[in-house]
This record gives sequence, C-alpha cells and structure tokens, in this order.
Amino acid sequence: MNIPFLSFAPQHDPIREEVLAAIAGVYDKQWYVLGDQVKAFEAAYAAFNEVNHCVGVANGLDALHLALLALNVGPGDEVLVPSNTYIATWLAISFVGATPVAVEPNTATYNIDPRRMEAAITPKTKGIMSVHLYGQACEMTAIMEVAQRYGLWVVEDNAQAQGAAWQGQMTGSFGHVNGTSFYPGKNLGALGDAGAVTTNDEILGAKFARCAITALSKSTTTRL
Ligand SMILES: Cc1ncc(COP(=O)(O)O)c(C=O)c1O
Repeated sequence: MNIPFLSFAPQHDPIREEVLAAIAGVYDKQWYVLGDQVKAFEAAYAAFNEVNHCVGVANGLDALHLALLALNVGPGDEVLVPSNTYIATWLAISFVGATPVAVEPNTATYNIDPRRMEAAITPKTKGIMSVHLYGQACEMTAIMEVAQRYGLWVVEDNAQAQGAAWQGQMTGSFGHVNGTSFYPGKNLGALGDAGAVTTNDEILGAKFARCAITALSKSTTTRL
C-alpha cells in the first residue's frame, strides 16, 4: 500500500471549484498585489479572531518580525520566549537585534510556563512571546497578569492554533500584537506562504496598515 507522506486532497477537494473560481477572479481582475480580496480576507479574519485590526503579510515569520519592529524592540532589549517552539519565534527576536531569553515549558502542555517567567525577567526585559503549540492554548490569563505586573507587552504567536481558545477567548486576541502563519499545513492554510498580524491597538493597527500599503513587509531590514 502506498501512503503519501503529505496529502491536502481530503481538505482541498471539497472546495476545489470554489477556490479555482476565486483564483480566476483574481487573475481576471489583474490586481495581483494587495487589492479587494486581501482587504476582504483581513476583515473576515479579524472578525473570526475577534480583534479590531488584521493586516496580511508574506508569512508568519514576517508577522512576528513586524510585530517586534512596531513595538520598537531592538539591540539591548530582552524578550522572554519559549524554549520549546518553532525557530521563527526566536528568529523574529534576533532579526531586530534583541536577545531571546528562554523560558521552560509546562510539561503538561509543552507551552511556555508562566510560573517560570518571573525568574527570567531583568531590567532589560521588554516583552513576552507566547506560542500556542499544536493547537493548545497557552495559559493566557497568567501570562497577561505577569506582563501587566512588570509593564511588558505580549506578542502571541498563533501560527499553530487558529481557532483555539483560552477560557472562551480566541488565541491571537490577548496579546498587544499577534502574529500568525497561513503556511499550507496550518489550521488555516493558504496555497503558498501567507501570514497576518492582528491587534486591538489603534496606533499599532494603523502602523501595520501603512506598512502593508507600501509593501514594506517584503523588506526584513525596513523599520516601521
Ligand atoms: C509556531 C510557529 N511560529 C511561526 C511560524 C512561521 O510561519 P511561516 O512558516 O509562515 O513563516 C511557524 C511555521 O511553521 C510556526 O509553527
């Protein structure tokens, strides 16, 4: 028996005609960067994720990188990050020249353990990146409480958990900024690379929108 290593057919086949018709619509309209379809998706994803602002970007790593740029994180800053995560979470921090400080997981979930955060906080700590791994929500109430007590921001990496919730609230709606990935294998997978940043903050939302309009997310060196 030949079992394919990877097959999208079971999830894609039922919507094949709908997807191909949508692609044909984009093709015919000849608006191949941003445009109405991206705007409609951003609005739909913001509503689904229960946040006020969503901006589509090239991939999940860009989303996390842009989140840190928008929060003015840079050299000399420390960011708490799970020791157990996909490498993009750490790369976003090193891309802006800041220092990732590892926090060990809760072994019941393998997500970052808020009880181990305080020991990792120093005067240089600026924020926390929490990552919801394998569709399981981090303990967001405790994480937001630590952040508030120390005046830190929180960026949620929701790449592996679209549609998950912590105590009835959607993951990706707690953080000051949230990054997500629509890589084909994710819960919500694109036909190619894609990602989004979301926020409830008006000023940050406007920054991301400006960034998308000028397509700055293509450049990993450009400051917001
Ligand atoms: C937890 C996590 N964060 C970030 C990313 C990066 O997303 P992308 O591959 O779209 O850059 C991934 C992708 O696998 C991920 O699993």
